[in-house]
Order: sequence, then structure tokens, then C-alpha cells
Amino acid sequence: MSIDQRPAHAEDDDATALSLDRAHVFHSWSAQARLSPFVVAGGSGSHVWDHAGRRYLDFSSQLVNTNVGHQHPRVVAAIQEQAATLATVAPSTASLVRGRAAQKVLEHAPAGFSSVFFTNGGADAVENAIRMARLHTGRDKVVSTYRSYHGNTGAAVAATGDWRRVPNEYARGHVHVFGPYLYRTEFWATSPEQEGERALRHLERVIQAEGPETVAAILLETIPGTAGVLVPPPGYLAGAREIADRYGVLLILDEVMAGFGRSGAWLALDHFDVRPDLVAFAKGVNSGYVPAGGVMISAPIAATFDDRVFPGGLTYSGHPLAMAAIVATIEAMEDERIVEHAAAIGSDVLGPGLAELAERSPLVGEVRGLGVFWAVELVADRATREPVGADVMARVKAGCLARGLLPFLAENRVHVVPPCVVTADEAAEGLALLAEALAEAGPGAHVARG
Ligand SMILES: Cc1ncc(COP(=O)(O)O)c(C=O)c1O
Repeated sequence: MSIDQRPAHAEDDDATALSLDRAHVFHSWSAQARLSPFVVAGGSGSHVWDHAGRRYLDFSSQLVNTNVGHQHPRVVAAIQEQAATLATVAPSTASLVRGRAAQKVLEHAPAGFSSVFFTNGGADAVENAIRMARLHTGRDKVVSTYRSYHGNTGAAVAATGDWRRVPNEYARGHVHVFGPYLYRTEFWATSPEQEGERALRHLERVIQAEGPETVAAILLETIPGTAGVLVPPPGYLAGAREIADRYGVLLILDEVMAGFGRSGAWLALDHFDVRPDLVAFAKGVNSGYVPAGGVMISAPIAATFDDRVFPGGLTYSGHPLAMAAIVATIEAMEDERIVEHAAAIGSDVLGPGLAELAERSPLVGEVRGLGVFWAVELVADRATREPVGADVMARVKAGCLARGLLPFLAENRVHVVPPCVVTADEAAEGLALLAEALAEAGPGAHVARG
């Protein structure tokens, strides 16, 4: 829908959207009484707009998912066509569109991956990858990092009463380690190599101390996203693979945020010399137009369940609308060379532009990332690296919105995560607006303006 074709209902306005929301909608991760959500009425490409027609450049991709941009016509048409043909079907059936979606996903998987288990989103993709790893190894612990986000599910199968609970009951569960993050190193490291080596030594020592025979999997976001776009140093992921092999542990990579173009590669793991056993994905696989996720399964793990029941399932596993959106999204990304475009935007516009911003703005402690996946770390003091407080972040957010830029903020960071289809001009414009907002929010700025 273009901005000129907004619906004509009298009550279709921002005030009504906001008052209905505040009256009846319970939001994620929020104290409800303090909310005043941003109203979105429509979108196209890298822009969204409200009911009054105010346009915003979407530097958030919503929750880092609209990789092909808003309302990609090919994906919208595929969903419409599928809805008219078969809107829903049980997961136990064979359906052409589900098979095609699995085939398209596997075309971009690492070598040796043979099948896909579809889920409703990222959290249940991770849940099912963990379930597969536990059943394949006969072990129960999962080692992951403190600086990570893997989703928000957990108790449903443990609460279940029937047989499906039994193979999923584990007395012990999760162990955490620190991953590499040189800017705020836990390892007194002074170079990326040192940070990577020491983080690997720490990972191996924790596995040894836990008892390797109890550890099913190492679970890592290939590039931790919400935690700050922490691109791992050279050798870290390959080293994690070596440790996993040494102790008969599986390696699960979570590509929910980093995958399907975000990093300027089909999967972020393509940047590194690493071979996972399982890959969790969601978000960019169909840009979130219909909720979907899944697990790419390597052949040895898939074989575990040839003659043994896999005790996991979802009513909407492989939902036709989500599958049609996956096929159309991946085909659009291939035909329009969207992944290559995202890589070029990173190396030609966002990378150099953010490096310049870091030089100019005293608020910026570090910028890091690749493709259309960047974090700008804001600090009160560049020497001590003390993070800025919530007051500064609130000013940055207000400054961005006032200029028509929709930012993604996490703790003391601005994540620069536009759609993969953002044009060079839009990317440059967004950086200029961000620079203005930072200048306004930065030290002394309000004093200077009186
Ligand atoms: C790396 C990663 N894994 C898993 C998830 C959970 O995905 P979902 O919110 O679709 O359940 C997220 C969500 O942001 C994520 O970034």
C-alpha cells in the first residue's frame, strides 16, 4: 500500500491505534503502564509511516527481520496466492510448498546438511536444536555464552503430562561462559587473537570442569546480535568446533538474527571456517512476513531419527503461508542479488561512515559489524569506556525519531540494522541523521544550546 492509498476509515489514525493498544494489548518485555508504542500504519522498502503519513527510515528492520524490506511485492503476492490455494495444513502431511521451502533453505546451508525441521520462530528453533543434540549425544548440558539471546520459551513440554514430556525431562541444563568481546574483555586481552585464544581456553576449561561426558552441545550465535553485534575474532568459531570434536560435543550455531543476508553473506557462518552440526534460523528467512523458523540438520543427526521417534512437534510446523513466504523471499534474494548488495552497503557505506562517526563523536566508544549488521557503542568516557546512561539513550532515540529515523537501541548501543535492500543514499542519509541525533544528545550539547 502506498502512502497515498491509506485506508479511509475515520478511526484509522494514530490516536485510535494507540488508545486501543494501551487499552487491550499486553506487550513483550515491558512494564505496561509506562508504554507509549510507536505507531506503524504501513511500509515499503526501507521506510515505514504512521497514519498521518509521517515517514521514517527504518534502521531497525523492526526486530532485525525485514531483510528484503517492507512489503516486497513478490513475497506479498506469494502469500496471497498460497492463501487462496491452501491456507493451512497439518504438519504430518506432505505439502509441495513445504518441500520447496526446505529445498531452498538447504541450498544455502553448509555442505552435508540434509533436512529442515520447521518451527514458528527463533526460540522454538533453538529449543528443537537443543532437543536433537541431547537425544543424539545422550547427554544433557548445553554450554552457551552470557552475552547471547536465544529466545523466550521453556516450560511447556516440562508441564506436559503425556509421553512427550518423558524424553524431554532433564535434571541439569545450562552452563554459561564468556565469549570474545575485546572492547570489554573478560580476559585482559589486548588483541583480537589473544581474546579469541583466551576465550577458547576458558570454554574448554569449563567443559572439562563440567565433565565432558555430560555436555551435549556448545550453542553459539555465529555473531551475537542483541548482545552487541560481537563479530568473533579469527579462529574462535573454528576453535570451538575443535573443542567440540575433542569431547564428542555438538556445535549448534544460532543464525536467527545473523542469517539470511544480514551479515552480507547467506549465513554468517560463511564468513568463518566453521562446520556446525545444527543451525537454527528464523527472521530473515522470510523477513518475518509470516512467523517461521527452523533447524537445518546435518546428515548424521538426521540419521539418529531414521528409526527413532523425534519427540518434538508444532501444529504449525511448515505452515503453508510461512513456507510460501520463505520460497519467495529466498528467490527474491537470489534474483535481486540482495545478499551481495548488503555486503557492499557494509563495506562501501556503513563501515566507512560509522568509522568516521566514531572519529567525530565523543559519545562513540566503538563501532563494529559487517553487512547491514552494525553496533555503535556509546560511552560517557572514551578512556574508561563507561557506558552512557538511559537518559542519553532516551535523547538519542527522541533525536532520531524527530528526524524521521527509526533506530534500534539496546542498552548503551545503537544497532545500525537497516533492511538488506537499503540503498546507498538511504544508508548515508540514516548515518547523517544518526550523527545529528548523537551530537544533540552528547556531552555539553544541551548546555551549548542554552
Ligand atoms: C539470535 C537469536 N536467537 C533466537 C531468537 C528468538 O527468536 P524469536 O523471537 O523468533 O523466538 C532471537 C530473537 O531476537 C535471536 O536474535
